[in-house]
Amino acid sequence: MYPTRPLAASLHPRAATKLLNSQLSGSRANWLKICSASLSVRPTQVLSHRSFTSTTQQRFKEVFAPPHDAPSIKVTPPAWHHPVYTEDQMKSIQVAHRETRNWADRFALMMIRLLRWGMDTATGYTHDKGSIQPKGDGNQAALSQNKGWFAMNERKWLVRFLFLESVAGVPGMVAASVRHLHSLRRLKRDNGWIETLLEEAYNERMHLLTFMKMAEPGRFMKFMILGAQGVFYNGFFLAYLLSPRICHRFVGYLEEEAVVTYTRAIADIDAGKLPKWDQLEAPEIAVRYWNMPEGHRTMRDLLLYIRADEAKHREVNHTLGNLEQKVDPNPFVSEYEDPKKPHPTKSIDNIKSTGWERKEVL
Ligand SMILES: [Fe+2]
Ligand SMILES: [Fe+2]
Repeated sequence: MYPTRPLAASLHPRAATKLLNSQLSGSRANWLKICSASLSVRPTQVLSHRSFTSTTQQRFKEVFAPPHDAPSIKVTPPAWHHPVYTEDQMKSIQVAHRETRNWADRFALMMIRLLRWGMDTATGYTHDKGSIQPKGDGNQAALSQNKGWFAMNERKWLVRFLFLESVAGVPGMVAASVRHLHSLRRLKRDNGWIETLLEEAYNERMHLLTFMKMAEPGRFMKFMILGAQGVFYNGFFLAYLLSPRICHRFVGYLEEEAVVTYTRAIADIDAGKLPKWDQLEAPEIAVRYWNMPEGHRTMRDLLLYIRADEAKHREVNHTLGNLEQKVDPNPFVSEYEDPKKPHPTKSIDNIKSTGWERKEVL
C-alpha cells in the first residue's frame, strides 16, 4: 500500500502544526500551509490489489457506483470509444507552441499564463529552470524541483492532475452547448463541430475519473475546484458567445501547457524521482478506456496516453481557431475528396502540433 499522506498529516494535529510552523514563515508561507493541508489526499484505508489509492472504499462506492435497481441492464458502455494509439505515436508527441499572430492570440496566451500562475500557486507546483527540448522518441524535459517546500512528489503531481482535469473538461462542453443552442436558434446546421467538442469534454472527464481512482483531494482543494468551475464555466460561456475563435485559441494554449505538464511528469518518472510510480499499474477504468495492451499498463504508460490526448486537443483547438466559426465544416470528422492526401483525423494520425491552417483542410 502506498502511503500518500504527507508527514505533517500523519502526525498529531498539534505536532503537525508545530512542524509546519517551523518550516514556514511569512504570509506566503501561511498561504502555502492552507494549500498544503487541502492538498493532502485522504488517509488510505483500503487495500487495493492495484496498490495505489488514497480513496476510501466508501468513496469508491459513491464515485464509481455500479448501476443499481436495474436488473435488466447488463452494461452501460462509454459514449465514445477511444481511438487506438500506437506506442510509436505516443512517444512521438512533442511539446510545441503556436506563435501568436495577432492581438487576439496574444490576449488568449496572456490569459493562459495568468491561469497557469494561479494553478501553479494553488497546487504548489514548480520545476527546475530549463526548457523542454525535442529529443528523439519523446522530449527531454526540465525536471520538477525535488528540494524544499515546493518539492514535487507523487501526491502533488496527482493533485495537480486532478485540478487541471477538472478545469479542462469545461470548455468542450460549453462550446458544444453554445453551438447546439445557436443551431436551434438560427435554424442552421452545425457542420460537425459539436460531436468533437463533446468528445473532448468526455475525454477530459475520463482523465479526471482515472486520477480519482488514485487520490482524492482534500476539502480545500475540492472548494478550489468548485470555485474554479463556477467562475470558469460562466466566464467561458460569456467569452464563447463573444468570440469563439479566441476561445479555441485559448484552449489550444491551455492544451500546450497540459502537454508540458505531462511531459515533465514522465521525465520525473524516467529520472527516478517518483519511485512509488515505478511499478504502479494503471487503474482498471483506464485499462478499459484506452484499451491498454498487456505489459503496457504502468503509470508511465497511462501518462503517455493522456499526454497524447492533450496533444490531440491542442491540435483540434488550434485548428478550430483558424476556421470561420459559423460556416466551416469540422475537418476532424469530414470525408476528403482525396483520402490519400494527409488530413486531420479523429485519432493522432497526421497530428499537427500547432494545428492545421484553414487553406490546408478546406
Ligand atoms: Fe486532460
Ligand atoms: Fe486536454
